[in-house]
Amino acid sequence: GWKMKDVMEEEIKVIRSMVGPQDHVICALSGGVDSTVAATLVHKAIGDRLHCVFVDNGLLRYKEQERVMETFERDLHLPVTCVDASVQFLSELKGVTDPEKKRKIIGKEFIVIFDAFANGLQKKFGRKPTYLVQGTLYPDVIESCPPPGSGRTHSHTIKSHHNVGGLPKDMKLKLIEPLKLLFKDEVRELGKILDVPVSFLKRHPFPGPGLAVRIPGDVTQGNALDILRQVDEIFIQAIKDAGIYDEIWQAFAVFLPVKTTGVQGDQRTHSNAVALRAVTSQDGMTADWYYFEHKFLDDVSRKICNSVRGVNRVCLDITSKPPSTIEWE
Ligand code: XMP
Repeated sequence: GWKMKDVMEEEIKVIRSMVGPQDHVICALSGGVDSTVAATLVHKAIGDRLHCVFVDNGLLRYKEQERVMETFERDLHLPVTCVDASVQFLSELKGVTDPEKKRKIIGKEFIVIFDAFANGLQKKFGRKPTYLVQGTLYPDVIESCPPPGSGRTHSHTIKSHHNVGGLPKDMKLKLIEPLKLLFKDEVRELGKILDVPVSFLKRHPFPGPGLAVRIPGDVTQGNALDILRQVDEIFIQAIKDAGIYDEIWQAFAVFLPVKTTGVQGDQRTHSNAVALRAVTSQDGMTADWYYFEHKFLDDVSRKICNSVRGVNRVCLDITSKPPSTIEWE
């Protein structure tokens, strides 16, 4: 509406007055709604002094890199460097089974890549980038530091439970957080005004550590990543075809590191099982498992076993949050 248009124009003014003509600004895009809308807004304000990076950590969904890069480039004309660091991430993660260790390694590797990106810009332009764009929302701000009385604007720490994790301390970047007074639905509205495709704005959230939190244990075991990508794609496509994608907060597949017996064709198989999870939620803090129709589940299960090699059993996760978390790790 008109109000969000005013918010946009005001933000653009603020960004233009803040960022000097020599300043360069960097932004890490996750493929999610918040970082994309924030970057699009900053790009509208300062053009090609914004430099975005998208990191393929080897833990992305089926065709995720191609899909988000297409949106960034074709729909939004954002200046994005795509860094394929999958080999690097996966070799660091090999043999690691502890969930917290996995998260730490992913966070640390991300910083290495981001640092190299910033250094590359420094070489190119003869000065360090000055600002960092983050898609922090208002709920993140209140969560990290309660607002003092009247004003909604105040400083705060970067949330640790965040896609971008921490950033190198010696980088000394000043933050641009154009969404920090907005709620999620307002960000979607702003995104619409900025011509971000509606299908993109409605995407389910996806965790920073990616498929790593959906493979209990070593993410490099067997064909786990490949199996998960195929199963996830079939599940999500079926959900879209059934017209229920927008009712669901998140839906995904989990690789179960267990082999069970099956019979496929006239052969006995000893293959992996997968779990399907779908929840409804307002904010991810609590969640209810989603009631699918039996026919839907039957079709999806058959399709998965028929087309994904290495899977002979499909389970459904029927726990809410609490007592479970949404992700399995
Ligand atoms: P849980 O599993 O804690 O997840 O119930 C709540 C919401 O947060 C997402 N999530 C993450 N997002 N980095 C992220 O950016 C993470 O490490 C992470 N862990 C969980 C999860 O997908 C759900 O939307």
